[in-house]
Amino acid sequence: MTRVALITGIGGQDGTYLTELLLEKGYEVHGLVAPGSKRFETPRATVHVCDLAEGSNLPDLFHAVRPDEVYHLAAQSHVRLSFDLPLHTANVTGLGTLRMLEAVRSHRDRTGQPTRFYQASSSEMFGRAEVSPQSEETPFHPRSPYACAKVFAFWQTVNYREAYDLFCANGILFNHESPRRGEDFVTRKITLAAARIKLGLQEKLTLGNLQARRDWGFAGDYVRAMWAMLQADEPDDFVVATGQNHSVEDFLNAAFAAVDLDWHDHVETDPRFLRPSEVDDLRGDASKARRVLGWEPTVDFEGLARMMVEHDLEFVRRSK
Ligand code: GDD
Repeated sequence: MTRVALITGIGGQDGTYLTELLLEKGYEVHGLVAPGSKRFETPRATVHVCDLAEGSNLPDLFHAVRPDEVYHLAAQSHVRLSFDLPLHTANVTGLGTLRMLEAVRSHRDRTGQPTRFYQASSSEMFGRAEVSPQSEETPFHPRSPYACAKVFAFWQTVNYREAYDLFCANGILFNHESPRRGEDFVTRKITLAAARIKLGLQEKLTLGNLQARRDWGFAGDYVRAMWAMLQADEPDDFVVATGQNHSVEDFLNAAFAAVDLDWHDHVETDPRFLRPSEVDDLRGDASKARRVLGWEPTVDFEGLARMMVEHDLEFVRRSK
C-alpha cells in the first residue's frame, strides 16, 4: 500500500527537501500552503490551501487526504519578526500546532486511522540555556515570542501522545540551512551578499549581533531525521544537531573566504537587526538520535558555507 504523507509548510526550505525524500521513498505526498503564499509547484505532490491561523478546513482535508504521516513544519518561523508580531506568531506557531493535533485526534476517532504526527520543535526553546550542549533533558528558557509559541506546541504534542495515545514526536532541530534557506535568515543573507559583492552588485552588508553562536547543520540531513522519528517503534522527542557551534563572525569568515574576500571590508552593523532578548549560544547533543534512529549529519560547517556560496554565485549570475 502506498503511504500518504501530509506536509504543512511544504513550500519552505524543509518542506521541499522532505517532499523530495518522501517521493523517493514512494510516498503519495500532499502539502498545505498558507493562502496567498508563493505557489509551490511540483507535479508530484498535491498542494492544498489552509490558513493555520483558523484551520476551519482541516477536518475536510484530513477526510480527503487520509494521511498516514503528518509533518507539521508550518510556522511564523522568524525569531526577530516574532517580537513585532507576537500575537500572530502565537496564533500560527502555537495554536496552529494545536489545531493540527486536534485534526489528527478527531480523524483517528472518526476513522480509526492512526496518523503519526511530527512536530517541528526548535532549539530556540532552550534560549538562555544553563548547560551546554543541550539535550532532550535540558530545561527550556525561551527568549522570544516565537520560542514561547514553540514551547507551547512542544508540550501540546507531548500531551496528545500521553492523553490520547497518539504517535506524536517532537524533533528539536537546531539551526539548519541550505541554498533554499529564506533570505532573512543570517546564513543566507551572508552567502547572497558575499556572492553579490564578489560580482560587483553590492558593496555593504548590514547585520546585527555577530557574536551569537549557533549549531548550524544542513537541512537536507535534518529531514532524514524527521522521517526516521515517524518510523521508530515508539513515539519520542529527539534533538537533531551537529554538536559543533560557531559564531556569526565564523560564518562570515567561511562565506567570504569562499569568494576570496575579507568580510571586514564589507560588513557594518545596525542595532535594528538586534533582538530585544537574544539567544547567545546554542549547541546540540544529538546522541539519542544517533543511537535510536541511526541518524548522522553528512555536511560540516565549512562544507555548508561553501555549498551555499557556490549556489548563490550561480544564482546571482543567472538573475543578473
Ligand atoms: N536573521 C538575522 N539577520 N540574524 C542575524 C543578523 C541579521 O542581520 N545579524 C546577526 N544575526 C544573528 C541573530 O541575532 C541570531 O543570533 C543568529 O544570527 C541567527 O539568526 P537567524 O538566522 O535568524 O536564526 P535563529 O537562530 O534566530 O532561528 C532559526 O533557527 C531556529 C532553530 O532551528 C529559525 O530558523 C527558527 O525558526 C528556528 O527555530
